Amino acid sequence: MPSDLFDHPPLGFTAARPSWSDLPSELRDLITTRLGSAVVTADVQGGGFSPGAAARLGLAGGDRAFVKAIPADHVLAGKYQVEAETADRLPSAIPAPRLRWHGTSAGWIVLIFDDIEGRHPDLSPGSADIPTVVPAVSDMVELLTPSPLSGLPQASAGRVRWLHGWRELADSPPSDLGGWEQQHLHELADLETLWGRHADGTTLVHGDIRPDNLLITTSNRTGFVVDWAQPCQGAAWQDLTDLVPHLIMAGNTPGAAEKALVGARAWDLVPSDVITSYAAAYAGYWTRMSRQPAPPGVPNLRNYQRRAAAAAIAWTRYRTGW
Ligand SMILES: Nc1ncnc2c1ncn2[C@@H]1O[C@H](COP(=O)(O)OP(=O)(O)OP(=O)(O)O)[C@@H](O)[C@H]1O
Ligand SMILES: [Mg+2]
Repeated sequence: MPSDLFDHPPLGFTAARPSWSDLPSELRDLITTRLGSAVVTADVQGGGFSPGAAARLGLAGGDRAFVKAIPADHVLAGKYQVEAETADRLPSAIPAPRLRWHGTSAGWIVLIFDDIEGRHPDLSPGSADIPTVVPAVSDMVELLTPSPLSGLPQASAGRVRWLHGWRELADSPPSDLGGWEQQHLHELADLETLWGRHADGTTLVHGDIRPDNLLITTSNRTGFVVDWAQPCQGAAWQDLTDLVPHLIMAGNTPGAAEKALVGARAWDLVPSDVITSYAAAYAGYWTRMSRQPAPPGVPNLRNYQRRAAAAAIAWTRYRTGW
């Protein structure tokens, strides 16, 4: 069994976040006023990596809500603003929590959502969550085509600009790069660019589909997508294809991971060489980013990216045969 399994926190426990009582009292008062009821329980949510507040709140009247907040001068505050603007405009048919209110108080950006009573999907081999999540994301992609939101940047102006890594690694190879990576560095740098020419389109792309941004409701097993902080307009295949490296991280072989998507329209239509390039781009991105210094207050991101890089490299090897 890989030792890595023992040295990283499980899904849902990766973020270091403030507790409710850590938040400024002015901020807690504003949230309470907006909710119209006293907060009696606040369960900090450990999914994700950002150091902002994220808590499921139980209210005196029995209502519930989910709140996330970050200081307005934090480097990630812009993402919270984008999420508020996106979530506010999503059609009700999209399986995303309804944004109840957003604003700034005591120097914090605050978003208040409907609370989803759920859990992160288990994407390990044979899990019954896989046939729940794949159609949920596939149906969402269809509902988001054409994009119901105007004014979003195309993928080529957004995710294409950062989702790569092999070219930078080839220009300045780290000494700890694996043997396979070293051997194929220049081929990988060539391979990782093609998908970018197929990334633009008419779909609203969530852009951050991973198990900790997905919830399966406890009551009727509906799949919800949270964290709409980095949306763009683009080709329909991206959100669905993003499940593949996470299926591999959860223990599926690359072949089994891809097989789980067969039958979903956006997957079936995408050219094979685009997927191969996309796999290489993720492998390069995670290989590059995992070597960066950890951002302050984000203890588990680089470790996660190391494991994600291994999954995306396995996927790339499977597709290229290299
Ligand atoms: N509406 C909701 N109801 C219940 N739980 C939620 C809701 N939205 C998010 N969560 C939980 O809170 C966690 C953090 O939320 P979210 O992903 O939006 O925050 P984040 O700080 O932006 O995370 P990231 O580090 O991924 O950017 C999620 O992983 C999920 O478990
Ligand atoms: Mg998240």
